Amino acid sequence: MLAVAVLAAGKGTRMKSSLPKVLQPLAGATLVERVLASTKSLQPNRTLLIVGHQAERLEAELEQHLSKPEFVLQQPQNGTGHAVQQLLDPLVDFEGDLLVLNGDVPLLRTETLQQLLAQHRSSGASVTLLSAHLQDPSGYGRVFVDAAGQVQEIVEHRDCSDNQRRNNLINAGIYCFHWPRLRQVLPLLSSDNDQGELYLTDSIALLKNAGHLVVEDLSEITGINDRCQLAACEAMLQERLRLHWMKEGVSFTDPSSCTLSEDCHFGKDVLIEPQSHFRGHCQIGNNCRIGPGSLIENSQLGDDVQVLLSMVNGATVAKGCRIGPYAHLRPEAELGEGVRIGNFVEVKKSQVGPGSKVNHLSYIGDAQLGADVNVGAGTITANYDGVNKHRTVIGAGSKTGANCVLVAPVILGAGVTVGAGSTITKDVPDGALALGRSRQVIKDNWQPINSKI
Ligand code: UD1
Ligand code: MG
Repeated sequence: MLAVAVLAAGKGTRMKSSLPKVLQPLAGATLVERVLASTKSLQPNRTLLIVGHQAERLEAELEQHLSKPEFVLQQPQNGTGHAVQQLLDPLVDFEGDLLVLNGDVPLLRTETLQQLLAQHRSSGASVTLLSAHLQDPSGYGRVFVDAAGQVQEIVEHRDCSDNQRRNNLINAGIYCFHWPRLRQVLPLLSSDNDQGELYLTDSIALLKNAGHLVVEDLSEITGINDRCQLAACEAMLQERLRLHWMKEGVSFTDPSSCTLSEDCHFGKDVLIEPQSHFRGHCQIGNNCRIGPGSLIENSQLGDDVQVLLSMVNGATVAKGCRIGPYAHLRPEAELGEGVRIGNFVEVKKSQVGPGSKVNHLSYIGDAQLGADVNVGAGTITANYDGVNKHRTVIGAGSKTGANCVLVAPVILGAGVTVGAGSTITKDVPDGALALGRSRQVIKDNWQPINSKI
C-alpha cells in the first residue's frame, strides 16, 4: 500500500505573485500538476495534497484534474512536521508506506521515485530519503550518516554548527516513510529550533533505521522558490523536449527561440523556423514547415502543411494546406486538403472544403464551405445578429467577389457567383449569379459645389 503526500501549504513569498507558488506554470503544466504526474505510474492508493495558503484556489484549480488528490488543510503553516501531522486523521487506518514530496520540486523523475521506493521496501527501513552532494549546500538541511550508511539525523542549515555546515550531503526533502512508525513519532516533534517550527526532518533521529539514496542529476531536486529558478527549470525542460524531437527527426533553425509542450507530437522531416511555439496537445504531420513566428495550440496538422507567421488554435488542418502569413485559425476551424488561408484571414468554427481558397482579409465564422470555393478578398460572414450566431453555407465551386457580406443564416448553392461588393441576405440557388449592391449612378459634367474651376 502506498500513499503520496505533497506539501503545498506554503505561501511562496519569494515568488512575489498573487498566484500560489505551486500553481505557477512550467512548460504548460503547473508545478503541482507535474509533481502529481511524476507519481502516477507508482499507482498510489491515496494521494493527499496539504494546502493552506490560498487553499480554495488550489482546490478549484485541481477540481477537474484527472488524478484529483484529497485535500488536507494545514492552518496555520507551522512547518513541514506540522504539515505531515495533519495526515494523522485522514491516514488513521492506513498501514502502508507514505511518500512525501514537495510541491515546488517539479523535475523529479518517476524512475528516481521508483528507485527510492524499491530501496525503501527491500531494506525494511523506517524511512528512506533522497540526498545529494552539493558544492554549495547552504540553505539545505544536512544529512549525517554513520559508518554503516544509516542516517542518524538531519540538521537544518540555520541550526548547524560551523563544523556541521562543512557537510555537503544535503536533504532533498523527498522521503518514503513506513507510515505506522512515523505515526508514532509525529506527536513527539518539538519546535525547539531557530524558526520555532515543527520540522519533519526531526522525525529522522526519532525513527530507528533510516536510509538514503544519493541523487546524481541535481536538476531533479531543484526546488523553485523564485522566478529565476522558475525560468531556469523552464529552460532545462525546453532543452530536454527539443533534444528529444531533434533525435526523432525534427529540425529547428534556431532551437533556443522555440518552445514546446510535452503533449506535442511531430512527424518526420518537420522544419521549425525561429520564434515558433507549440502549446497544449498538438499533432504535427510529416514534412510540415512551421514558422517563423507562429503559435500552434491544441491543433492537428496533417502532412505537408505550411504555417507562416500565423496563429493556429484548436484547429484541424488536413494535408498540404498553406496558412499565412498573418492568419488566425480559431477553435473548430477544420480545413480540408490543400486549403489556402492567406493574410489577415480569420476562420472560426467552420469547415472549409478541400482545395478552397480564402486568400485575403476575410472573416469566416460558423460556416461550411464546399470543395474548391474561392472566397474573394474582404468577404465576411456576418454570423452574429446581436443575440445569436447563425450559419453560412457555400456550395462547392462557388466564388465571391471582393468585399462581400454574407448575412447568416444564408445558403449559397454550388457553382454560385457573387458580385463584388454584394450584401447577400437571401439564399442563392445552384449556378446563379447573385448581386446585392446599389447600381452605380453617373452624372455627366458634374460640377462640385465648391469647385473653383
Ligand atoms: C526543507 C527541509 C530541508 C531540505 C529542503 C529541501 C525541513 C524542516 N527542512 O527545507 O532539510 O534540505 O526542504 O528543499 O523540512 N510547507 C508546508 N507547510 C509548512 C511549511 C512548508 O506545506 O508549514 C511546504 C512548502 O509549501 C514546501 C515544502 O513544504 O512545498 C518545503 O518547505 P520549505 O519551507 O521550502 O522548506 P525548506 O526550508 O526548503
Ligand atoms: Mg524550500
